[in-house]
Amino acid sequence: MSKYYHITTYGCQMNVHESEKIAGILSGLGYESCENAEDADIVVFNTCCIRENAENHAFGNIGMLKKLKARKKDMIIAVGGCLTQQIGKADVLHSKFPYVDIIFGTHNLGKLKDYILKKQTRKKAVIEIEEDCGAVCEGIEPLRTSYPNAWLNITYGCNNFCTYCIVPYVRGRERSRRSEDIIKEAKYLVSLGYKEITLLGQNVNSYANGTDDISFPELLKKIAAIDGKFRIRFMTSHPKDFSEELAKVIGEERKICNLVHLPVQSGSDKILKAMNRKYTVSEYMDKIGTLRKYIPDCAVTTDIIVGFPGETEEDFLQTCELVKTAEYSSAFTFVYSRRDGTVASKMEGQIPEEVSKDRIMRLIEIVNAQTRGQSSEYVGKIVEILCEGYDEKRKLYFGRDESGKMAYFSGTADMFGEFVNVKIGLANGVSLFGEVING
Ligand code: SAH
Ligand code: SF4
Ligand code: F3S
Repeated sequence: MSKYYHITTYGCQMNVHESEKIAGILSGLGYESCENAEDADIVVFNTCCIRENAENHAFGNIGMLKKLKARKKDMIIAVGGCLTQQIGKADVLHSKFPYVDIIFGTHNLGKLKDYILKKQTRKKAVIEIEEDCGAVCEGIEPLRTSYPNAWLNITYGCNNFCTYCIVPYVRGRERSRRSEDIIKEAKYLVSLGYKEITLLGQNVNSYANGTDDISFPELLKKIAAIDGKFRIRFMTSHPKDFSEELAKVIGEERKICNLVHLPVQSGSDKILKAMNRKYTVSEYMDKIGTLRKYIPDCAVTTDIIVGFPGETEEDFLQTCELVKTAEYSSAFTFVYSRRDGTVASKMEGQIPEEVSKDRIMRLIEIVNAQTRGQSSEYVGKIVEILCEGYDEKRKLYFGRDESGKMAYFSGTADMFGEFVNVKIGLANGVSLFGEVING
């Protein structure tokens, strides 16, 4: 009889890829994927704790499984990911949800198979949260779910300790995979027909820092030298480590998408300092200038936090100003969320929620107006789109251009996973609509 698994993922692309590794482990144990948790023999929650609402989300969904578990006693529920790795959180999870069978941290994903086998022979929950031992996770074959894109880890962890951020505490110190392992995996992915490879790390620019391995721009060049037509993306770039050499390489190598995600976080030098971001607004703008010197049409996207402790109306207006001058093609905006254990959580001047909410609404309006303006410039142009799928509601195929713009078009099933040229006829908000012109 078939056995089924169901995975719920929260958080960033790194977690999405880690869920693919979890799926790989489960499929190795003979489980198949299923749509609904009700049909599953094992349910996994791969959690995030970057902001309070990410945590609440996971808590809510784990809580909802109580009744199902009471009906299906043999079903295994496992909770992993960043939330479990916070100090004391595994105990909170265990006492709040005693029916959860396995709780594992971010540093022991590789042992999930053992935990499942262990749980099958005993009643007591298996709870293991290991400390960061600097290990690089190798050898788990992921079951990829994002064709034609493939996620590829290059670094794990983070050393930057931005004062608001929980990631260094739950993901440990930065460590890089060996370039030969990365290149081997990239070659394999291209040979399997993947058309886009997205390199993942909290700060890809500091790849291999302090080791004798090659630098990030050199790594990019080696991946770009792999035969075949495919795109290379990467995230995230910390502005403090973004070099002129990197801008040059992006400009020179056709396979590397003309898009850089360069989170600024704030447009106020005072707030950037308090955030421990290690750059000023003018240094940041210089980096964008360098990037556009080598790649005039390079798209830049960003992350912004509003309501960081001590942020005044004046600081916020500086952020709005920066957004206007940087000409982002899109921006992810967040209300600051106080995270236990971080330096900022103890800072004076925490901003009331209604003030932050008002600021984020005003900021979103500026960002949206900018994005709409940029979308309308696409009308009449021909863009190369990598077809990612079919939208059932719109009854149209969709995909992105190299700068990440989403376009919809009528097409045929054989276009899935292929590059097609689309002539844009209409821009509606962030989305573009057009016709395929190369059949
Ligand atoms: N390593 C990446 C991003 C990691 S988290 C980087 O350095 O940019 C993704 C985004 O979440 C961050 O860029 C930041 O904008 C946001 N974020 C992180 N911690 C947050 C917090 N406590 N409250 C609100 N947003 C936060
Ligand atoms: Fe968090 Fe800063 Fe590291 Fe990004 S660079 S993960 S924001 S500490
Ligand atoms: Fe990612 Fe959330 Fe962890 S953003 S690294 S899953 S805290």
